[in-house]
Order: sequence, then structure tokens, then C-alpha cells
Amino acid sequence: MADLPRRWRRRFPILEHTTYLNSCSQGALSDRVRAAYARYLEDWDELGSPWDLWVGKEVEAREAFARLVGARPDEVAVTGSVSHAVSTVVSALPIEESRDTLVYTALDFPTVGQIFWAQERRGLRIVEIPEGPDGGVDLAAADRLVDERTALVSFSLVSYRNGARLPAAELVGLARERGALSLVDGYQGLGAIDVDVGDLGADLLTGGALKYLLASAGVAFLWCRSELVGRLVPTQTGWFADEDIFAMDVHDYSPAPDARRFQAGTPPIPSIYAAVAGLGIVNEVGTRAIETHVEELARRLVEELEELGATVATPKSPQVGPLVAVRCGDAEGLVTALRGEGIVTSARDGNLRVSLHLYNDDTDLDRFLTAFSAHRTYWG
Ligand SMILES: Cc1ncc(COP(=O)(O)O)c(C=O)c1O
Repeated sequence: MADLPRRWRRRFPILEHTTYLNSCSQGALSDRVRAAYARYLEDWDELGSPWDLWVGKEVEAREAFARLVGARPDEVAVTGSVSHAVSTVVSALPIEESRDTLVYTALDFPTVGQIFWAQERRGLRIVEIPEGPDGGVDLAAADRLVDERTALVSFSLVSYRNGARLPAAELVGLARERGALSLVDGYQGLGAIDVDVGDLGADLLTGGALKYLLASAGVAFLWCRSELVGRLVPTQTGWFADEDIFAMDVHDYSPAPDARRFQAGTPPIPSIYAAVAGLGIVNEVGTRAIETHVEELARRLVEELEELGATVATPKSPQVGPLVAVRCGDAEGLVTALRGEGIVTSARDGNLRVSLHLYNDDTDLDRFLTAFSAHRTYWG
């Protein structure tokens, strides 16, 4: 598996001078993504307003997202953010008095909780599944809290706070058993974890391009199980969600019959050029190979951190990676100290976050572990 970084590292110029361990915030810039942005400017400059070309690029992005998760393109909406994807789903739920509850977990990214709590103003009931003692989700509490009033259960594939891999099969199964829909926020894993929507069994899946999908801000996606699309009618919408975008009918709302109904306004074209290039790398390498490589590095990292006497905050089961978190008295201070030595990490919730991708290798871990053990003053 060391072959993977050997083949790809030179495509990411930052790796020539920096130990980059922050793909959980932003994937490293590749020569292909840089060229895609240049191409966007050239197309604009040479062709003026090539909307046919740009709409075609959006179709390419939809196909790339679909390929990533083993879905059909007509089950995928290209959105501007995960927040948009979650909001449009919530706006589309057929809420009844007897099914008025949205459930999320304490390990979710704040945007999900914030969107859900905003629905309290519309009379919905909001419930949080707490964190368990091991830093994962409390499944016994989930079993109590997801009930026949639950309309939607949302959870992260991987927690942005501590790298916990959430038990997707159990949570999806619980939602289905109680008659609720399930929404997986895959942002912290997609690209470094092999996800196939057929195996996942969830109803909805969202993720964005800027982290492990190796592109940049401004573009994300929503996958919706095909049998469900027609039952969800977004009330948060826009003209690019219409069945005929160019009908330009100001008097009518007729959502697209496929998942494009979850889109809104003009697509983020520059970000889409980048997303096609970034996802192209991930799809070319294959997420199964990336996951195997990343898990191998993550296991070594956890083992050696524990040998050093550090407290690893990431639960070790069911799996570990791509994000490994270490408890730190001064995580922000440590991020800054490491940055000064050319090592890029990040901090959240009192944890130092080290995230791994296809371009990371053992030399990155050697450098990080040496620097980390020399900075014990930040640990306590
Ligand atoms: C798990 C997760 N979900 C959602 C988001 C936010 O996504 P967006 O800014 O595209 O709404 C993030 C951003 O870091 C994230 O880590």
C-alpha cells in the first residue's frame, strides 16, 4: 500500500515542503485541480458565456459523485454545501402530527443540529442522541430515543470532533425499524472510506468536495434513494430544481422528477470544475484502496501515540481512520507549534486532529510523532 503515496505524492506540490495531515479540514491541492481552475478561466475568457459547456460540467460532477458512492446519477443533486443539502431534505419531509421529530447525534457537525433546532420554530420536536462513554454514539440511548414519532434520523459517518466512526448499520436499521428516514452526513469520510449506498442502506447521503474529495469549497451533493425521490417535495427550492430549468415560468412550481429537485439556484461552476478534477483522482484510485491504506496508517498512529503515553480520543472500533484525535490541554497551541515546524494539523473540542489520505505515508507519521513527542508541554 506504500505504493499509493509513492504514485501520487508528486501530484500534490505542498507535500514537497510540508507534512500535510489536515485533509479533515481541506484536501491538499493537486496539479489537476489547479489546472481545472485555470481551464475554467480559459473557457470563460475564450468562449464568453458557454452555458452548455458549464451545464455539461455539472452533469460530469453529478456522475462523479454517483460513481463515488455506487449510485445512479439521477439519484444525485449537486448542491452548494452540505448545509443546503440538509436544509432542503428537512424542507421536503412530509411532517404529520404523529411524525414530527428530527433526531441527530451529539457527534454531528453543528450545521445539522442548527438546521434541526431551527425547525423547532415550525413546531417540530428535536431530539439529540448523546455521546457514549467511549466517545462513540450511545446506542442504548438511540434505541430509546428513536421512536414512532421520528421522521428523520441524521448522523455523521465520522465525527469531526474525535474521528469516531459511527455504527451506520445499527443507526440506519433502527430508523427503518421505527418507520423513520435516515440521512448520513458523510463529509468526514467520503473519499477515504469506501461507501456504497446499496450496502449503507440509508435513505439519504450527503457530502462535500473540499476535504477527502480533494477539491475546494462551494460544491457538495445529496444522494436520495430513487424510490423516495418522488415522496420528498422540497419547499426550499429554486429554478435549477425545476423539471424544465429554462421554462422560466414564474407562476409554477414543478420540481424535477429526479434528485435534481433538491438543487436551488445557478450551480457553483468554478467549484464544479475543481470537483470533477478532485473526485476524478479519488475515483481513479478507488476508495477501497484508499481506505485500506488510510486504516493501516491510522492503526500505526494510534498504537504509537499510546506507546508515547498520549490519550487517543478516537474510539478504536468499529474501525479507525481517516481522522485520529488526541486529547490535548492546549490543542490550539500545539497546532501552532507544529505549523512552525512545517506540520499541518487542526484542533477541535480539546483534541488535536491528525487526518490521513492517499498521499500520506510513514515518513509523515515519523515526522509528526517525533515533533508531537517533543511538545509534551501542550499535552496536559
Ligand atoms: C461532518 C461535516 N458536516 C458538514 C460540514 C459543513 O458543510 P458545509 O459547510 O458544506 O455546509 C462539515 C464541515 O467541516 C463537516 O465536517
